[in-house]
Amino acid sequence: MSTKETLKRINPSSLNVWEELMTEADRFRNVLMRDLFEQDADRVARFSLQVGDIYLDYSKNRIDPEVLDKLLQLASETDLKDGVRKMVSGAQINETEGRAAYHVALRAPRSADMIVDGENIMHLVHAVLNQMQSFVERLDESWKGFTGKRITDVVNIGIGGSDLGPVMVAEALRPYHVKNRKVHFVSNVDGSHIAQTLAELNQETTLFIIASKTFTTIETMTNAHSARKWFLEEGEVEDIRKHFVAVSTNIDAVEEFGIDAQNAFEFWDWVGGRYSLSSAIGLSVMVAVGSANFREMLNGMHAMDQHFQHEELENNMPVILALLGIWYSNFMGAQSEAMLPYDQNLQFLSSYFQQASMESNGKMVDRSGKRVTYDTGAILWGGAGTNSQHSFFQLLHQGTHLIPCDFILAANPSHRLFKHHDLLVANALAQCEALMNGKSEEEVRKELIISDTPEEQIEEILPFKVFDGNRPTNMIMMKKLTPFNLGALIALYEHKIFVQGYIWNIFSFDQFGVELGKQLAKALQPEITGESKPEKHDASTNTLLNKFKAWREY
Ligand code: F6P
Repeated sequence: MSTKETLKRINPSSLNVWEELMTEADRFRNVLMRDLFEQDADRVARFSLQVGDIYLDYSKNRIDPEVLDKLLQLASETDLKDGVRKMVSGAQINETEGRAAYHVALRAPRSADMIVDGENIMHLVHAVLNQMQSFVERLDESWKGFTGKRITDVVNIGIGGSDLGPVMVAEALRPYHVKNRKVHFVSNVDGSHIAQTLAELNQETTLFIIASKTFTTIETMTNAHSARKWFLEEGEVEDIRKHFVAVSTNIDAVEEFGIDAQNAFEFWDWVGGRYSLSSAIGLSVMVAVGSANFREMLNGMHAMDQHFQHEELENNMPVILALLGIWYSNFMGAQSEAMLPYDQNLQFLSSYFQQASMESNGKMVDRSGKRVTYDTGAILWGGAGTNSQHSFFQLLHQGTHLIPCDFILAANPSHRLFKHHDLLVANALAQCEALMNGKSEEEVRKELIISDTPEEQIEEILPFKVFDGNRPTNMIMMKKLTPFNLGALIALYEHKIFVQGYIWNIFSFDQFGVELGKQLAKALQPEITGESKPEKHDASTNTLLNKFKAWREY
């Protein structure tokens, strides 16, 4: 960590506006959103925004103009604009790891001025993009496996940021997939994952992308070596270069694995793992959807980057989403937030953003190295509608927790089953309405009377059928789930995470929290294989180790 401070250190809870927001939260405990709609005919116009083809309606939130003003004041007084300026200018905002967090450069045009350590890096970024494109074109036209057959299956081996983004986007853009090739993903070190994937494949026609920023991650390297062994059951060592390529910042380790340096796609330490989708880590996506669609996704990201960088705070979509999240988690007592895409192709969106958000902002120490005294990083979870309605929505409607929800919906489907889509849209809108309006005792009673429920039963059943409502939702509606709009959506949430981490005065771009478990697993592994004698562990770990050894049959 350098001694020079890049990002300002401003404890948000020391600001007067923090106290004022506490007071606003008290005032808001019993304010009903449906009353706010009645009092303000302009509420939707006031609390909605559009960026390109993405429309955000945030009117169904427990806010009024005063609350929003104070939230914006919080952003100004922590000097968010300074943070954004530093991020987009390639400053070393990842201070604990001594580097920039410059994913915005990955989707900027060739002509942009994006400087890292005094060097304009756009020629590097576009050289790799061109290299990716020419690889994908060669796969189509001339690339042959070791027996001269064309490649029909590509397997991306990676984990975390080297897997979740490509998995999510490959699924989201399924309607854009090329017809003559299938892409598969292997991440878990659980052997079932690779074994089940390889069982369907043929060595002659399969190509592996080993995607790892560090090229040392134990899960990825174990899977990569198993893939190599499987390949060598049929192919020869000199054929590896026709069947393995790599994406990494560690080109020496790539070559050591036996991969031709020409088939290594580079990225740089200023790209964080969970923000690497728009780097060469997206190679599997490009293989799946072709280079034109991949570049369209980058264009969509860039459009949102521009909006985030230039728009005033009050009209800035990522800023608004971030401030709403802060309002609920720091002032209104919410512990988690749900991401609910009404789109089967976005089914992996919440797992992708779970890593991006929770690995970035799950921090307990502020930028001055002191323990924070307020909550950071909300717990993010979710799932695709309408399936989730038949799973956890009961708790959203009648549970005891306050859980703000983001609904995400495309106005146009990517299929021609329009009846299905109308039903999907009706469900998404109805859920937001129900979460806000709820159903009062009076309304329940009326319904029960109409349905001829005997009077003595009415009072008995009534409390169970009441919905308090007043549960906040955002609706993010896009015209269609195109590569461009998907890119914009991804950048929207990336920047939301940045804004929150910045205001919480934490460092969002390191992930020391995942190291301890890794270290201990490394120490335990030789004890499990019997290569080293059991070390002293706690009684529970010792008992579990012994139980495992007693039961192990291999
Ligand atoms: O889980 C920790 C982490 O470092 C993530 O941040 C990263 O996305 C993942 O591991 C994979 O790392 P690599 O790309 O170096 O294999």
